[in-house]
Amino acid sequence: MVNNRQQQIIQKIFKLNNSEHPFQCGANLYGQAFAPSNIALVKYWGKSDIDLNIPYTDSLSISLGDLGATTKISIENDIQDSVILNNNKIAENSEFYKRLVNYLDIFNITSEIRPRFKVETTTNIPVAAGLASSACGFAALVLALDNMYHWQLDKKYLSILARLGSGSAARSLWQGFVYWQKGQDIDGMDSYAYKISDIWPDLCIGLLILSEQTKPISSREAMLKTVSSSILYQKGWSEQVINDMGLINTAIKNQDLMMLGETAENNALSMHATMLAAKPAICYSTHETVDAMHTIWQLRKQGLQVYFTQDAGPNLKLIFSRKDSNSIIKNFSDIKIVTY
Ligand code: PMV
Repeated sequence: MVNNRQQQIIQKIFKLNNSEHPFQCGANLYGQAFAPSNIALVKYWGKSDIDLNIPYTDSLSISLGDLGATTKISIENDIQDSVILNNNKIAENSEFYKRLVNYLDIFNITSEIRPRFKVETTTNIPVAAGLASSACGFAALVLALDNMYHWQLDKKYLSILARLGSGSAARSLWQGFVYWQKGQDIDGMDSYAYKISDIWPDLCIGLLILSEQTKPISSREAMLKTVSSSILYQKGWSEQVINDMGLINTAIKNQDLMMLGETAENNALSMHATMLAAKPAICYSTHETVDAMHTIWQLRKQGLQVYFTQDAGPNLKLIFSRKDSNSIIKNFSDIKIVTY
């Protein structure tokens, strides 16, 4: 179902860009784009506006280099859209299909029937296992549309458009460190991300895939339940984020791995604590997740500087320095290290 408040954002953006209508601009035969996956070091958890994906807090992420999604969009000569994910045609009654088609519908701000599209996406990360596949998926789709229709939108607007698909997609338009400001406007026009100029070439992220199964509860639903029923969330999460944001920014400026790792790890554990305190409890960790956490803490005691973060899934992302890559591989043989 098309959401009018989302369409008002589209209308505003295209008016500011002096273009009439997203699908009226002269189109290429197809548009194609890549967007990286991103991992939050200070998490986004909870929406102050559910329709517009406006977060309660700011968040800060690091992008995953060449790991992400590539999307190609073209006109489909049919009465319905077709969606292909990793060479598999997605069923029209699936949640994935409906979410994508609903997203395309919000760009149709006239009363005319919009063109039907073929959306082909390939990812090189596991889908829906808490590895931000929806973030890079929606970011790649927005960039592919921008490419096909020559919108030439400012990245700030592309970030807002991506946010409407999936909150964390707002951060997947850049490499490196990215900051998403929650904004103040009730219409969400100042809730967008931007790149932080600092670089940290020695910083490594390792993906520790413990399960590729689809998550038991979507992040959207889990956020709603946490916000409405978790006292830990209601009484502490915003303050936690403000505090952690200060620490992470200092850690990035000083390239202080201990400060970055400890803060990111504590932020992720605190986010999961707010979920455990929801009624009923939400727990994304499996026993493999908890075992891996203990291994990491043990390695740290032995002097290896390794930290973790965890999103809405059982997998962990390890944070360490490039010089320790071999030790990390020795302890986690299946790890996928992101290279920049
Ligand atoms: O963008 P969503 O709705 O998939 O939410 C992402 C939430 C986390 O990954 C857990 C945190 C974050 O900031 O990416």
